[in-house]
Amino acid sequence: MNGPGQQWDADTYGRHAGFVPALGRPVLALLAPQAGERILDLGCGDGTLSLEIAAAGARVVGVDSAPAMVERARRRGIDAHLADGEHLAFDAEFDAVFSNAALHWMRDADGVLAGVARALKPGGRFVGEFGGHGNVAATKVALSAVLQRRGIDPRAHLVWYFPTAEAYRRKLEAHGFAVDTIALIPRPTPLPTDMAGWFDTFAGPMLSALPTGERAAARDEAVALLEPVLRDDEGRWTADYVRLRFAARRS
Ligand code: BEZ
Repeated sequence: MNGPGQQWDADTYGRHAGFVPALGRPVLALLAPQAGERILDLGCGDGTLSLEIAAAGARVVGVDSAPAMVERARRRGIDAHLADGEHLAFDAEFDAVFSNAALHWMRDADGVLAGVARALKPGGRFVGEFGGHGNVAATKVALSAVLQRRGIDPRAHLVWYFPTAEAYRRKLEAHGFAVDTIALIPRPTPLPTDMAGWFDTFAGPMLSALPTGERAAARDEAVALLEPVLRDDEGRWTADYVRLRFAARRS
């Protein structure tokens, strides 16, 4: 996981975003890791899903651009490395590349796909899930509004990559992949804490456009804008997630 202005802290992530790997199980099922396979977990985070892939008997290598996450994954026994997913340096050595909730941080999708294609053996699988078109739409509007109120053009700071299924299929095919399945999946996601916690975990690229002393007030203003939309009568918050899930093969 990476992105300009985004800092990752493994404890904050575990508290506010433990649902991210937990909800990654369907894409893990789509990967169907086999004993003896060598699999790259691209954007492995704290290694929760890497461990599940390893439990199937595969040999897993994890890469992530966040030092705190690589450190946490290593402490859990994963062969994890610090690497930029837009510039992977592997060569025809993996049976599969897997990625959950990381590709939306990598704006250079062509750089990512060129590196994944190079990393795979011929016939190797690329299976993943990330934010798709329409993901966190209300949240983006609220963040845009609070930046605009402070005279900042939000477009330069909305860094996430959320493509449509058609656009990402075209990119996969342009990089030599045959697409087995690709679809947008709306997935309203109950948050384990609240919207302020979500912003503190994920909205670094937007809030860091502001001076440090103004960020908490801007965050609280965005939370207030979202309250009538994403908070229910019992006080629970649900994030407006839309996932893009796909399975493709390198020809
Ligand atoms: C997501 O997983 O959908 C997501 C993560 C960080 C920022 C925005 C969306």
